[in-house]
Amino acid sequence: MTLPGTATLPAVPLNDLSRALAHDRSLVLDTVARVVDSGWLVHGPAHRGFESALADYLGTPHVLGVASGTDALEIALRAVVPADRPVVVTAANCGGYTTTAARRAGFGVRYADVDEDTHLLTAETLAPVLGPEVGAVVVTHLYGRAADVAAVRALCAPLGVKVVEDCAQALGARRADGMVGALADVATFSFYPTKNLGALGDGGAVATADDDVAAAVAELRQYGWRGKYRIARDGGRNSRLDEVQAAVLSARLPHLDAGNARRRAIITAYAERASSRVRVLPADDASHAGHLAVVTTDHRDELREHLAAAGVGVDVHYPVPDHRQPALAAEHAHVTLPVTERLAASVLSVPVFPELRDDEVERVCDALERF
Ligand SMILES: Cc1ncc(COP(=O)(O)O)c(C=O)c1O
Repeated sequence: MTLPGTATLPAVPLNDLSRALAHDRSLVLDTVARVVDSGWLVHGPAHRGFESALADYLGTPHVLGVASGTDALEIALRAVVPADRPVVVTAANCGGYTTTAARRAGFGVRYADVDEDTHLLTAETLAPVLGPEVGAVVVTHLYGRAADVAAVRALCAPLGVKVVEDCAQALGARRADGMVGALADVATFSFYPTKNLGALGDGGAVATADDDVAAAVAELRQYGWRGKYRIARDGGRNSRLDEVQAAVLSARLPHLDAGNARRRAIITAYAERASSRVRVLPADDASHAGHLAVVTTDHRDELREHLAAAGVGVDVHYPVPDHRQPALAAEHAHVTLPVTERLAASVLSVPVFPELRDDEVERVCDALERF
């Protein structure tokens, strides 16, 4: 069905990076030119500058650039998980990135269910699956919403379990008890182009207040070297954030908060207008970075068709929980996560990015209202 008056309008995109690039084109090109002129391509002044700018922004002592968010997770886990506790616990509704990283590092993965309201891990959902073989818990601030990491740490610390924050979707979110990325033993970030702070390609970072963890990450991201050509730590690899990406990220960082505020305003507009058959996950204060606008509904196929007819781009984050992924399902056949499985069948993402125009926001609101 086509809604009256919408048939000829261009679609409202789920995301459109060309708009951000058009908006800061000269900033990006000037930045790239400065890197070219500097003669440094990796681990030079732009990289150091970005590490220190992000550390200041987070209020944490150490930030280390790496090549992607998945690398950041793998390296952070290698840095904190002890060999005699080789199991990582995480949620199964976060796109599989932690699963991929933990398995690459040779760790087993165990899943905890999530809270029905927030879609996040909590101390209550984690408690039943912890044990002496668990070395770390990875808490993902999913869709941009800050999880209660302090409560998770209060559970984990007495058990000797390290806590990792995956901040790939939540850079810039702030809770009353601190900044996302400065709440746990170690935190990881992705600068994949669609992230709230996006590079021109892949990029990632690890942040920590712990000097030993920072030293381990510095070695692991560069072949395990302690000093040039001396492999002091096993499990190292090459994972570098290059100078062009670091310089672009530094140039964009000052605009992050404004972009996040615009994202929250868009999501709040959706929440105010959506019909009672749709629940818009709220993003109404600074504890949410507004990365994704996610709704839940018992009528997802119908909603998807309705939005398509209204020219609204949608996607599902994420359709298949990790424990049901084809390559992993046999290993986890005994695992049931009722809330995670229910949510996977009911979530739908609608457009949100800072350059979305007001008339497009209105079209999405209108379509959600008419459902
Ligand atoms: C929650 C989360 N963690 C980790 C990653 C992995 O980051 P990357 O794509 O940079 O490897 C992503 C997204 O891509 C993500 O959304």
